[in-house]
Amino acid sequence: MLELALRAAREAGALLLANLGRRIEVSHKGPIDLVTEMDLASEALITNLISTHYPRHSILAEEQGSSGAGDGAEYCWIVDPLDGTTNYAHGYPCFCVSIAVERRGEVVVGVIYDPTRDEMFVAERGAGATLNQRPIRVSDTSPLDSALLVTGFPYSIAEEKFTNLDHFRDFSLAGRAVRRDGSAALDLCYVACGRFDGFWELALRPWDTAAGALIAIEAGGQVSKFDGRSFDIRTPECLATNGRIHDEMIAVLQKRRQ
Ligand code: IPD
Ligand code: CA
Ligand code: CA
Repeated sequence: MLELALRAAREAGALLLANLGRRIEVSHKGPIDLVTEMDLASEALITNLISTHYPRHSILAEEQGSSGAGDGAEYCWIVDPLDGTTNYAHGYPCFCVSIAVERRGEVVVGVIYDPTRDEMFVAERGAGATLNQRPIRVSDTSPLDSALLVTGFPYSIAEEKFTNLDHFRDFSLAGRAVRRDGSAALDLCYVACGRFDGFWELALRPWDTAAGALIAIEAGGQVSKFDGRSFDIRTPECLATNGRIHDEMIAVLQKRRQ
């Protein structure tokens, strides 16, 4: 399964890269939520490979939803064929392919490929995490005021009461700096390899976090909900850190909950 995930991520990433900057068809899922023909082409490539090799597995993919063998299957593949669609549509080279394999509700394999840098992040549960086959570890940065943080905003930002802008302000003042890169899956990988010290986001979907959360955990990171309770890929909030600044980040996130 890991071999197939690697192959699918590499082939889909090459397809995305080959078409970057080309005039591509873009349609809207919401006012600012885009889907391009390349999201669809990448997803078709990946899901065809999976269903050909593993017809008894189920698949949860962003654009087409659930397919394959259905709910009772032992394994479920969770696929984001293009994480960073807005970046991609604007030719901003920060996007990736994310593929995870879940076994009876537990993510056991995570693969994230950034074709612009030819960086392949991989984790298997219990076996550590790697970047281009070299082991990676989270940073040892602390306290929070020395930390480089990253976050993202939901597409529904203009319609929601809780938009993350308050947290963005709080962390901009409490941390060293905050970035907004536009790919949650890569944000998690960058926590895993120590480029970022902490990541939070409040409205994510399973395909955004399934592979990245495992990669961060296997690299020695800590991943939870905003109040410290256990993380679950099917609930929207995610806090991922190097472990050393986790409690400080929880304290900042909780300020807005009173
Ligand atoms: C989005 C990106 C972005 C995050 C959004 C996600 P997409 O995924 O990961 O960084 O802020 O919440 O929906 O739509 O580019 O696959
Ligand atoms: Ca995504
Ligand atoms: Ca996507």
